Amino acid sequence: MNDLAVGDVAVVEPAGGRSLRGRLRVPGDKSISHRALLVAAWASGTSRLAGLNRGADVSHTLDAVVALGARVRPRGTELLVEGTHGHLREPEAVIEVGNSGTGIRLLAGLVATIDGLCVLQGDGSVARRPMDRVAAPLRLMGARIDGRRGGCYPPLVVRGGGLTGIDYTLPVASAQVKSAILFAGLGAEGRTRVHEVVPVRAHTEEMLAEAGAGIEVRPEGAGSSVTLQPGPLHAISLRVPADPSQAAFWAVAACIVPGSDLVLEDVYVGQARSGFIDVLKRMGARLEVVGRDPERLTADLRVQAGPLVGTSVGGAEVPGLIDEVPVLAVAAALADGTTRFSGAAELRLKESDRLATTVEMLRALGAKAEAQPDGLVVEGSAGAPLDQGIVGSHGDHRIAMAAAVGALAAKGPVHVQGWSSTATSYPSFEEDLRRCLK
Ligand code: S3P
Repeated sequence: MNDLAVGDVAVVEPAGGRSLRGRLRVPGDKSISHRALLVAAWASGTSRLAGLNRGADVSHTLDAVVALGARVRPRGTELLVEGTHGHLREPEAVIEVGNSGTGIRLLAGLVATIDGLCVLQGDGSVARRPMDRVAAPLRLMGARIDGRRGGCYPPLVVRGGGLTGIDYTLPVASAQVKSAILFAGLGAEGRTRVHEVVPVRAHTEEMLAEAGAGIEVRPEGAGSSVTLQPGPLHAISLRVPADPSQAAFWAVAACIVPGSDLVLEDVYVGQARSGFIDVLKRMGARLEVVGRDPERLTADLRVQAGPLVGTSVGGAEVPGLIDEVPVLAVAAALADGTTRFSGAAELRLKESDRLATTVEMLRALGAKAEAQPDGLVVEGSAGAPLDQGIVGSHGDHRIAMAAAVGALAAKGPVHVQGWSSTATSYPSFEEDLRRCLK
């Protein structure tokens, strides 16, 4: 980056002779941070949360739990959250989730426990994201949910209370849907059971267990079933691990910037979050998982620069790397050979249509890429530098940061438009880049 940035544009310079070195702890995991706030808001007692993600998405969830009756105050580096003993209050105003699809979907489940009315709304991107996937099971539990376009799109109007547990098989491989149902299940009559056919991230179950919920996870086919008994939760004390989705940007950057040797510290490597590690290893990356902590489900990742080869990414591994596809596509653009991503139609429903915006980003950098209905085909340059150019992020933080990673391996500066989108999940990305690029 340099100081030429005008307006909402970052100018990212190629690494040149510099490389990524040292140790880096990326921000706290965003998925875990949302859930920690929701669990703490429901719990009895005061939860201590350290290392929460400081992006705008999680800030909105923090404001939401305050609006729902939790009391929040900082103490040193921690946030203390005094819970509501399972009695969230009806909010006095509309709850704003900003850009956060996870925020609105998880909150929809939690506020369905309130005997009252709650309106959830987000920005223009959230307004285009389908909510029927959470509204349908929550309606089966007894919530009344309305929204734009036949109740399918935000703003969502949730009239909750009087819920009954359900037995539900996820029609889409979505941790947000599983989590919304489980949060609603906390306040339902009778048990709630969710069947996941393909494993998706398990943070909600992990944290509910930590908070003393009556929760049981059983293997079932290739996936599992999660059974939750309603009831109180006790306060939690949590140090949020580093976010693997953010670590992935640096892992790819270290692979493609010659001479790099970077250690990413304390990264969450639990269920369905570390697929990018397997993909990069298949691509020949010099990536080692060291210092595993089996209790916190974390590890350090050491990544050194080296040549990459194309691979195929698809099937059951996709939910475990869904947010990492844009930056893996940058790795693919520099690899030797073709990389194919399939089974990833869900990417069309993220902060942007990420199959379209990833292809647009790669082409702006001179790479050859095609979007498919459910994936991408990327022709690698076998290490030849990408082009300088102008990339539109479409307000999508992951496209902006993936473009910045690609810029490090470009012939000249890359202008990333809509750079402020990075504040949704990683406000210190630019600072971390300056610090590690030596
Ligand atoms: C998330 C789940 C994923 C992911 C999103 C965060 C979560 O979405 O893409 O960024 O925290 O549960 P889906 O559940 O829609 O797959």
